[in-house]
Amino acid sequence: MSSFRVRPAEPQDCPTILRLIKVRQGEGTVALLLISDFLQDGFGKHPFYYCLVAEVEKKKQSERICTVGYAMYNFNYDPRVGKLLYLKDFYITEPYRGLGIGSEILKILSQTALETNCSCMHFLVFIRNQPSVEYYLRRGASNLSTEEGWHLFRFSKETLLRIAAE
Ligand SMILES: CC(C)(COP(=O)(O)OP(=O)(O)OC[C@H]1O[C@@H](n2cnc3c(N)ncnc32)[C@H](O)[C@@H]1OP(=O)(O)O)[C@@H](O)C(=O)NCCC(=O)NCCS
Repeated sequence: MSSFRVRPAEPQDCPTILRLIKVRQGEGTVALLLISDFLQDGFGKHPFYYCLVAEVEKKKQSERICTVGYAMYNFNYDPRVGKLLYLKDFYITEPYRGLGIGSEILKILSQTALETNCSCMHFLVFIRNQPSVEYYLRRGASNLSTEEGWHLFRFSKETLLRIAAE
C-alpha cells in the first residue's frame, strides 16, 4: 500500500459499503437491507445517513484503488445538549488497521461536528468489544453507560404496529 485517502461516499460506493457492512456484521445478518433502500436512504432527498469511505492505492494489484473501510453517521438532536453527530458504524478491514486510517476518519468527523455546531459526538460500542472500548477511551471518550446509566432500548416493528393500533 502506498497511500490512503478518506472521502465522502458517493452513490456508486453503495454496493461496496454494503459488502463491507456484511463482512463486519457476518454474512446474512443484514440481508434485510436492500441496495435500493440503502441508496435511497443515503442519497435521496432527505438522507438518513452520511458516509465516509477509506480507499487505499495498491501498487501491484490490477484493481489499484480499493475501499478498505467506512464510517457511517448522521445528525441527531438531544434536548439536553442540542445538535450532535451520531457515529453509527465505523469499520476498517483487518489488514489495514493500525495505519492511522481510523484516526484520520475521527479527525474528519470531529471537524464535521465542529463545522455544523454540534456539541458532541455519540457512538455505541458493544461492551465486549474491548479493543474498541479502549481505542475510544484512549482518545478521550466518556462512557455514558457507566457515568450516566443509559441503556439502549428498542421498539421493534411489531411493537410499533401494536402500539400504533392501540
Ligand atoms: C476501531 C477501528 C475502526 C480503528 O481503525 P484503525 O484504522 O485501525 O485506527 P488507527 O490506525 O487510527 O488506530 C489503531 C489503533 O489500534 C492499534 N493497532 C495497531 N495495530 C492494530 C491492528 N493490526 N489491529 C487493530 N488495532 C491495531 C493502534 O495502536 C492504534 O491505537 P492507538 O493509536 O490508540 O495506540 C478498527 O480497529 C476496526 O475497524 N475495528 C473493528 C470494528 C469496530 O470495533 N469498530 C468500532 C466500534 S463501532
